[in-house]
Amino acid sequence: MKSLSPILARIAAENVPAPEIGIVLGSGLGGLADQISEPIFVPYQELPGFPISTAPGHKGRFVFGRLGGKAVVCMQGRVHYYEGHPMSALAVPVRVMQALGVKKLILTNACGGVNYDFSVGDIMLIDDHINMMGTNPLIGPNDDAFGPRFPDMSTVYSPALRAAADAAGKALGIPLRHGVYLGYMGPSYETPAEIRAFRTLGADAVGMSTVPEAIAASHCGLPVLGISLITNMAAGMGDKRLDGAHVIAIANKRAKVLEALVTRIIETI
Ligand code: HPA
Repeated sequence: MKSLSPILARIAAENVPAPEIGIVLGSGLGGLADQISEPIFVPYQELPGFPISTAPGHKGRFVFGRLGGKAVVCMQGRVHYYEGHPMSALAVPVRVMQALGVKKLILTNACGGVNYDFSVGDIMLIDDHINMMGTNPLIGPNDDAFGPRFPDMSTVYSPALRAAADAAGKALGIPLRHGVYLGYMGPSYETPAEIRAFRTLGADAVGMSTVPEAIAASHCGLPVLGISLITNMAAGMGDKRLDGAHVIAIANKRAKVLEALVTRIIETI
């Protein structure tokens, strides 16, 4: 694990306010960052050793400022394993946010619905995940300063934050689903046979992000709230072929609702 010091020193040079809540914005959901007041932008490429996001719909910068009455830092764009980063690099942004003061982490993503009860546009709170990526961000020498060698994963997604999200959904009249998110390596979408297998395993939704960050956060004791937007039904569940542009278009369409939900959650946590 490379030292975070050069990254932290570069961010400190911007005089950013210490953030209390970290938010990672998924594909097509970057608009929330535009709601942040008094924003200070720090592009990832200015941070020595920081993994750079190349995925479509991801801007690739930190946005520091205020949202829902709290000091926040927002990752407008995340890095994915399929971009070719070593899995350990996906822990870096989470650890940087914690080092800057973040006490709660909100992870959002666009994903495919696996549960037949779900519909495109549904918002799902992640109750738990299945790591089907075949690897783990904690592989490599363990830095005990972050967390233990063999971290417990019994409660990755904070029950208190899920309850706050449920209350926010209720207050705003936004129906929320709950379910299990299965992390898939990508970048190819799944086959219909894989989706049938994943449903049998207990997955409600499938996507190519979130799980590595959630593992890294849990390792270093950061409570996580995971929010998934169902942008499509997974492979074989409809007659449409899957494509990334459609995923981003649906995410953009539902972004305002998700933004309202996340802002309300931040007000109350
Ligand atoms: N599968 C994997 N990742 C995704 C999907 C999907 O169907 N939709 C959006 N991200």
